Amino acid sequence: MDFTGTSTRHSLVHGDALDLVELVRKEGLEGKVDMVYVDPPYASDRDYVAEARLDGPADGRALRTLAYEDRWSRERGGIGAYLDMLAPRLDALARLLSPRGTIWVHLDWRAAYLVRTILDEILGRDAFKNEIVWRRAPNLGRQAASSQFGRTLDTIVVYGREQATLRPPTRLEPIDPSAIRWDEEGRPFTSAPRGDYTDASIEKLEAEGRVHRTATGRVYIKYFLVKNSEGVLCRERRVDALWTDVPPLRHSVVSERTGYPTQKPRALLERIIACATDPGAVVVDAFAGSGTTAVAAHALGRRAYVSDVSPVAIAVARARLLREGAPLELHRAAEVSQPKMKGVKVEVRGDRLRLVAPAEPLAWAVGTEEDGVFRTIWHSERVPGKKPIPAVMEADLPPGSASSDGGLHVRVFGDDGSVGDWSGTVSEARAGARTRARGEDRTEARR
Ligand SMILES: C[S@@+](CC[C@H](N)C(=O)[O-])C[C@H]1O[C@@H](n2cnc3c(N)ncnc32)[C@H](O)[C@@H]1O
Repeated sequence: MDFTGTSTRHSLVHGDALDLVELVRKEGLEGKVDMVYVDPPYASDRDYVAEARLDGPADGRALRTLAYEDRWSRERGGIGAYLDMLAPRLDALARLLSPRGTIWVHLDWRAAYLVRTILDEILGRDAFKNEIVWRRAPNLGRQAASSQFGRTLDTIVVYGREQATLRPPTRLEPIDPSAIRWDEEGRPFTSAPRGDYTDASIEKLEAEGRVHRTATGRVYIKYFLVKNSEGVLCRERRVDALWTDVPPLRHSVVSERTGYPTQKPRALLERIIACATDPGAVVVDAFAGSGTTAVAAHALGRRAYVSDVSPVAIAVARARLLREGAPLELHRAAEVSQPKMKGVKVEVRGDRLRLVAPAEPLAWAVGTEEDGVFRTIWHSERVPGKKPIPAVMEADLPPGSASSDGGLHVRVFGDDGSVGDWSGTVSEARAGARTRARGEDRTEARR
């Protein structure tokens, strides 16, 4: 199956990570991928449930569906089986990298230490770039009350090919007012001891007016300050490998939260993509979940190739990308099972096509179908938020289809990952409307 948008499309594969690798190779991009990010299952021994809120938290009407299993009990082979799953996929993904490419593997305390040894093996110890610690939750509740330090961190292990260079961004850190001074030009600055700056560096900094000498002749480096959005004077510092400034998803705007379990904040992926790639680069995520990498890549002008085995993940990621206006192509690997949605009903009245059932789809589309390939002409998706906005249930008929009694193709996506189709002619859909109207009349007559 293939769902085509416009020319610079992202690719979403419903399939295993290895199916994605095969697609990237087939498209001639082996050795041209500048970044691979993966956020695979963490060997957590639990199931993850997706929650689609239909009316917002106030009404609490929600659909819950198993999104994916992360179970590696002794009977299933334990952590050995987990590593047997992950290692060949990391190996295949690493082979896609360009000479400046980096691979980012997002895990937590359960498997990060093991995956480092696998990446040492695949790319070599010298390819290690960073072990980033992201504070993904505050130390509250059960974590804070437990008998060890709160496990509130995720680890992102980064390895790079020979020409890989990362460009860490800067962040603004507020400065204690007592540490602020003003130079003769009225510019606020703070200062710090020279540390390991060489004499040559000090000379260079002095020429830039960035050296401050105390009355006793001690040398300090001046850091000029800038105001943050709240008007507080801050020092601009380069981000190091400790990321405490990317808030957890639950602090993101409600419309960002798809209800997919283990969804990562878009800001996290934007930071990673921006520091590791240039606009136009190809970015790969083989364990896509709700599609965060693809959405961030789209926002930053990169092209994403992403995959997931879970039909729920694919439905969520597809809807999310389309909501963001990201054109995409959806591929389905032969081996994956796709839950079938039954009972799709449409009707045509005048020049409008209406989806009658299901009543609350995650998304639906009107398109053409040729050789089993569905091409979208029009689509609509539910918008999550405090008060979710349901998908628009009526669309214009495709141009010319009414006069020619042309074929209509409708595809519907459910929150449980199911996909349903309706195909027929405009007159068949009109007949559906007439039957329905008669049914409605009878109901009226009985009252
Ligand atoms: C931790 S979640 C990813 C969450 C994602 N980063 C997000 O922001 O939504 C891991 C995902 O890996 C998928 N997965 C598990 N095994 C896979 C495989 N062999 N190939 C592709 N995807 C897989 C699961 O279905 C799940 O959606």
